Amino acid sequence: MHIKFLEVLRRLSRIVARIWLFIRRYKAISILALFLVYRIYHFKSDPSKRTASLSGWGRETPRSIAAYLDLTQNTALIVPRDFCRSKALLTIVVCSFVHHFERRRVIRMLWGNSTDFNYSAFVKLHGNLKGRYLDVLPERLKLYTEYLSGEGDSLKASIRIVFILGRRNLASLLENEAVASEAEKYNDIIQENFMDTYNNLTIKAVMALKHISQSCVNTTAFYFKCDDDTFVNVPNILHFLLGGTIPVNAATARFHFGNTYDVTSLRKRLTARREMMYGLAYCNVSPIKNKLNKWYMPSYMFRGGVYPKYLCGSGYLLSIDVVPRLYKASLGTRIVHLEDLFVTGLCAEKAGIKRASHPLFRSDYPIDADEQCTIKGTFTVHRARDDIMLEAWYQVTNFSSKCPPPEKNFHLKLPKMQRC
Ligand SMILES: *[C@@H]1O[C@H](CO)[C@@H](O)[C@H](O)[C@H]1NC(C)=O
Ligand SMILES: *[C@@H]1O[C@H](CO)[C@@H](O)[C@H](O)[C@H]1NC(C)=O
Ligand SMILES: *[C@@H]1O[C@H](CO)[C@@H](O)[C@H](O)[C@H]1NC(C)=O
Ligand SMILES: *[C@@H]1O[C@H](CO)[C@@H](O)[C@H](O)[C@H]1NC(C)=O
Ligand SMILES: *[C@@H]1O[C@H](CO)[C@@H](O)[C@H](O)[C@H]1NC(C)=O
Repeated sequence: MHIKFLEVLRRLSRIVARIWLFIRRYKAISILALFLVYRIYHFKSDPSKRTASLSGWGRETPRSIAAYLDLTQNTALIVPRDFCRSKALLTIVVCSFVHHFERRRVIRMLWGNSTDFNYSAFVKLHGNLKGRYLDVLPERLKLYTEYLSGEGDSLKASIRIVFILGRRNLASLLENEAVASEAEKYNDIIQENFMDTYNNLTIKAVMALKHISQSCVNTTAFYFKCDDDTFVNVPNILHFLLGGTIPVNAATARFHFGNTYDVTSLRKRLTARREMMYGLAYCNVSPIKNKLNKWYMPSYMFRGGVYPKYLCGSGYLLSIDVVPRLYKASLGTRIVHLEDLFVTGLCAEKAGIKRASHPLFRSDYPIDADEQCTIKGTFTVHRARDDIMLEAWYQVTNFSSKCPPPEKNFHLKLPKMQRC
């Protein structure tokens, strides 16, 4: 027993000596091997490494856009008749889920019910703050004259709204028929043949880029993408596009920064016609490690520790020339499931297009007493369910309620806008 043990010990020491000799002779290789073993061990054992697989997008799932979207064919199940034949200053694409019939109904009834936008609405909303904002620019009215009619208070701008949907695997016949008749009735639905899930939103957003690139670049000047739970203040967006600024009121003052609050400064006007991307910019965001979170990002999809700058998907505004460029860039970019990160971060970076942040794109719904004036003074509010949408609409269209200006010297408290 004792002797056998000694024998084993001797053999062991011989092996150790040989390994030691090997390490001394091949230092570089050995260090590399040790390092690899260490990395593999840690990769497996450390939950912060984002190794868990993502539903619908496993490691092996193809991640090129071409696997989901036929570039040469028209694959849509439904497209509006004469889609983008008529001129519209602004085309709004609302990403909606097939079964969200009610949300689409509410949008059509409320903020989406304005094929022609009547400019006097802006004046009525903000008239009491006259002098605290800039009017639209005559040069821009001339520039976009093909999309406008009338003048002064009866100025009208044409807009177009289209909903984009996927399809559901287990959709009942009834549901499919309902979508078909909805499309027939309102002529504002694009339906594509992919599974309509949250994790497939990137496919949906790129489908939208495809349709707009193919049909709308010559008949529209701006593109706005939002979700079906976004409340969009169309009058404010059009005022901004035409070179005006939105007055700061007591409720919206807190959204501003030291370099954005002075909306009577000529430099706060939009003057760009091309290469324009506006939204709520996210800077230096790290991927989420918790696999239960809906924004969880596995490392096989995005390896780095920080995302490039991107715009929140609840609403981003582009000049139309940017759309085909983003579409083209998307074809050579590996899919990440977060639509906004993919389109306005990775693809925009690849296409070399700068993204600008504007404080009036809000991604959260205001829940304090100032709601009414928050909605009147911003471009978007997000997470607005049907009842909230309705409420927001009553407030935006209530011309008799006047929002007070911010307190004096409010700007002294404002932070600097984060640059990235
Ligand atoms: C996304 O759509 C594709 C194509 O329809 C489908 O195969 C896949 O399962 C979907 N992914 C998810 C996460 O639903
Ligand atoms: C849009 O508004 C007009 C006029 O207020 C109204 O007649 C029409 O029914 C509305 N459309 C929808 C889809 O609610
Ligand atoms: C615009 O709306 C106002 C009321 O909101 C109305 O008085 C005016 O006639 C409208 N103008 C046009 C051209 O429809
Ligand atoms: C837009 O106009 C350009 C130049 O006139 C033309 O080459 C292009 O095919 C048009 N695109 C669409 C989608 O009509
Ligand atoms: C509109 O606003 C006024 C003033 O704030 C308020 O008295 C009135 O009740 C509001 N109307 C509606 C329909 O909410």
